[in-house]
Amino acid sequence: KKYEKKPIRVYMDGCFDLMHYGHANALRQAKALGDILVVGVVSDEEIIANKGPPVLSMEERLLLVSGLKWVDEVIANAPYAITEEFMGNLFSNHKIDYIVHGDDPCLLPDGTDAYALAKKAGRYKQIKRTEGVSSTDIVGRILSSMRDTKVGDGCNSPSLSEQPHDTTKESQPNGTQISHFLPTSQRIVQFSNGKGPAPNACVVYIDGAFDLFHAGHVEILKNARQLGDFLLVGIHSDQTVSKQRGTQFPLMHLHERSLSVLACRYVDEVIMGAPWEVTKDMVCKHVIVSEMDSA
Ligand code: CTP
Repeated sequence: KKYEKKPIRVYMDGCFDLMHYGHANALRQAKALGDILVVGVVSDEEIIANKGPPVLSMEERLLLVSGLKWVDEVIANAPYAITEEFMGNLFSNHKIDYIVHGDDPCLLPDGTDAYALAKKAGRYKQIKRTEGVSSTDIVGRILSSMRDTKVGDGCNSPSLSEQPHDTTKESQPNGTQISHFLPTSQRIVQFSNGKGPAPNACVVYIDGAFDLFHAGHVEILKNARQLGDFLLVGIHSDQTVSKQRGTQFPLMHLHERSLSVLACRYVDEVIMGAPWEVTKDMVCKHVIVSEMDSA
């Protein structure tokens, strides 16, 4: 009988609030350390106790994490720290081989390392944190876009307009903040499926801004994918989004939005900078156009 190697099961936990491509890239790297990726989504209560209230609920964060193509299993309401008891649960009930986290320090309110026990047990592995994006940074972008709207509307909100400008970022004319993230072709390749549609596949097209990728986007992409065999997603350029929604949008620039969409398990391919109108030459005989503005 052929010997079958036991699959390596890795665990990564996190808050995954306002899920972004930094989280997706962490899970992509974690998955590469084994065969099956189990993700623990930290409970609202535990986030409140350790970091302050999350923006998204447990349910939304769970839906977003489950929608990522590298995630095999999810554990809802995970604890913030790897306690002795939870580690035992991971090893015996979930058959976890390694516990993985980014290379940024993850400290508990008392200053101790949340992964100390896993490290001591020799079951800890580390991945490289993705620079240039964080949930805090995204909240900053939302607040600054609100301030821009208020100023533009002439109905200034003192509390928002008094906030100092972030000097680490410049605003582009269309309102998109220049993030520190440098989109490389390698990152796009890492997030891509690398496969085109099969010869007679029914290709479904959906377009939108997909700004601040959220649970509703996962839902609509799942539904769109079910209409055919291959899902092609058109992502509008920053200029197009600004023109349609206002100069303070999009909050995430085209490359950031493209990575978030590509990380979704229901997506096969993206057009980065799709036109607002579906043009004749975009529609070949195999393409079913299901034009729904998703966002
Ligand atoms: N992570 C990462 N790159 C980022 C942000 C997060 O690799 N830019 C990783 C973290 O190291 C962790 C996982 O994603 O292993 C989940 O992170 P999370 O618990 O949500 O919190 P933070 O590290 O605080 O991320 P953020 O500041 O974006 O909330």
